[in-house]
Amino acid sequence: MGDKDINNVAANSSIHWFPGHMRASQRLLKENLSRVDLMIELIDARIPRSSRNPFFKDITYSNKARIVVMSKGDLADCRASEDWVRHIENTERVRALAVDCKNAKSVKNVIYVLKEVLLNFSKKRGLGRLMRAMIVGIPNVGKSTLINSLAKKSKARVENRPGVTRTAQWIHLDSGLDLLDTPGTLPSKFESPEVGLNLAYTGAIKDTVYDVEYVAMNLIEYLSANYPKQVQNRFGVDFSEFPRPIEKLEAFGKSRGMLLRGGEIDLNRAALGLLEEYRSGRLGRITLEMPRELKK
Ligand code: G4P
Repeated sequence: MGDKDINNVAANSSIHWFPGHMRASQRLLKENLSRVDLMIELIDARIPRSSRNPFFKDITYSNKARIVVMSKGDLADCRASEDWVRHIENTERVRALAVDCKNAKSVKNVIYVLKEVLLNFSKKRGLGRLMRAMIVGIPNVGKSTLINSLAKKSKARVENRPGVTRTAQWIHLDSGLDLLDTPGTLPSKFESPEVGLNLAYTGAIKDTVYDVEYVAMNLIEYLSANYPKQVQNRFGVDFSEFPRPIEKLEAFGKSRGMLLRGGEIDLNRAALGLLEEYRSGRLGRITLEMPRELKK
């Protein structure tokens, strides 16, 4: 498949997505770790494995409390999210929950869990002071959205603190919690080509650093195999009639009238259109990976 191979996608993209600023961000996270009691790890409910940067686990010491929040729960399959929450809680002994970061009611659940975890933590450690938490996650996972929702709910004050670079900010919540926002970081290398694809499907990696047609062909192949009814209902195409991924993408483009001047299908437009359909949730709730011991 030449330069359309996802290994090349990953290799080429790493040049773009692990530049100096990502390294600087990682340094910033490490430097600030000593200032916080709790880490909020934000991951994407549609790709709970691929959206975890192993770096975040590595920097979590045993004397920190931690919770895992799965953002974009409104775009993920509910049953799959329940399975993931159970899986993470059982294997990591941390509290986990799926939320819609844009929804105030949903975000309230994060506040409940935070209060509970911090109360237990402060009792254990005999701490009487304000609690400090750090929010970490890959780019585009929803950190700003979650922070804004938390801030709205508690009339937060946002402050730039000297000594902390302008890329990290303290937010004071009236629940007695100081929250440190941090810049998003991606791993320098992917665990597998699937991780690169999942990050591309969900928009964690910019479209400009990979071959969108290749990524969209993989996505349509996955969706038509795992969610055939949802794609057929939405696009009015029975993709099982098209054995090759390129034919599937062409069929999608044709159904949307995405044609070039000579009547040929505009594959680039079709690819971008398909990715946008998936990311916006118009295809319905779709989770792209399950805990390893479960199917899909
Ligand atoms: P970041 O700080 O981690 O980089 O992510 P950010 O909050 O900027 O969110 C990235 C995109 O994801 C935004 O969409 C945001 O609205 C969306 N988003 C975040 N959390 C959720 C969620 O729980 N559910 C859904 N459905 N979307 C979420 P955008 O299109 O870039 O911006 P906007 O037009 O929505 O403002």
